[in-house]
Amino acid sequence: MDFLHYQNGQLFANQVAISDLAEQYGTPLYVYSSDYITKQFLAYQQALNDTNHLICYAVKANSNLSVLNQLANLGAGFDIVSQGELERVLKAGADANKVVFSGVAKSIVEIERALTVGIKCFNVESEPELYRINDIAKRLNKVATISLRINPDVDAKTHPYISTGLRENKFGISYQLALDVYRKAKSLSNIKIAGIDCHIGSQLTELSPFLDAADRIVALVDELKANDINIEHIDLGGGLGVCYNDEKTISPLQLVTELKKKFAKYANVELLFEPGRCIVANAGLLITKVEYTKHQDGNHFAIVDAGMNDLIRPALYDAWMRVLPVKEPKSSDETLIYNVVGPICESSDVLAHQRDLSVQQDDLLVVCSAGAYGFSMASNYNSHPRPAEVMLIGEQQHKVIRQRESFDDLWRGESL
Ligand code: LLP
Repeated sequence: MDFLHYQNGQLFANQVAISDLAEQYGTPLYVYSSDYITKQFLAYQQALNDTNHLICYAVKANSNLSVLNQLANLGAGFDIVSQGELERVLKAGADANKVVFSGVAKSIVEIERALTVGIKCFNVESEPELYRINDIAKRLNKVATISLRINPDVDAKTHPYISTGLRENKFGISYQLALDVYRKAKSLSNIKIAGIDCHIGSQLTELSPFLDAADRIVALVDELKANDINIEHIDLGGGLGVCYNDEKTISPLQLVTELKKKFAKYANVELLFEPGRCIVANAGLLITKVEYTKHQDGNHFAIVDAGMNDLIRPALYDAWMRVLPVKEPKSSDETLIYNVVGPICESSDVLAHQRDLSVQQDDLLVVCSAGAYGFSMASNYNSHPRPAEVMLIGEQQHKVIRQRESFDDLWRGESL
């Protein structure tokens, strides 16, 4: 997170003091750097600029309208997994014909809406879904453009909860059945086959699973060709890992360069990617305030005002996320080994385990790399209103891109 640094004894994001943001907007608070988002998107785009391509940002990583609008203005397409995400990208000014629709449980209403607005492609995840899309398209007198999401059965070597390309996962169509399902798709009146796609998992830090998946896709595309089924685009999904701690990561340029080689023999094929995390994770941080410190039975707790309701990654995946004090640590500070815990009534409500910190009541802490799967996975558990989101623009400016929820927001739609 190159836009974070200590200056005059305290933490700054660009030229803005974190303590000023906390004071102005309150805590917990999500803060994103728009420059960082642009930089990451352009890294993908530049790596692909000699190739027919579309980068479909995975909306689930961070679905704030302002983030989506920024990416739409940069030319991004979008990978969506629900009608809610579709409505968000349309609201944010996206072109429907740059939207691909993934997800295993597309409902009739979702398919109708996607066909009506004219999305680029359905990433079909099962045979029954294919028939459902065909039936709806027939009824609406439309032709649905589809790709089959293939489960290539490769080990992404990532956390099991975010691994999606193994035979036992619910995602995609089995590699062995793929040709047969393509043949069936070809026979359907209101289906146009456009592509093939796969997404094998998230937070991948090794290149080999991507390359293995690409090899399997190439073999299938060749087999499809031999069966007179032509593929216009290949979509390799998302999954590029980011640095949370000291992981060695792959750059978009490295990934794209290697994959372009694999697909070089298909001159006219468009390459699609669905990156989420690597565009936004390290653009974001969560500011939180220490409500209390508690020292008992040899344990030290920094009890903060952000919890698993605001940021569930550590509780759900045991994810390690960097925690920085806003006051710059000095070598003379006395530190203790703290668990940074939230207000939620669950023992798993821990943002960070065993961190060497010097903290006091009312201090501010920052959880780094919280731009992806942070706010988008936040909930109102224990009836906490969700935090505000702020965008940093350039070195000095910032603006609210989502208001902190009010108590009225908490019970909107409920009745006595
Ligand atoms: N495409 C599809 C079909 C996906 O399912 C996903 C993520 C992506 C693209 C984007 O993957 P990315 O580039 O962000 O790795 N909540 C978890 C991550 C779940 C990822 C789900 N699918 C976490 O916080 O680590």
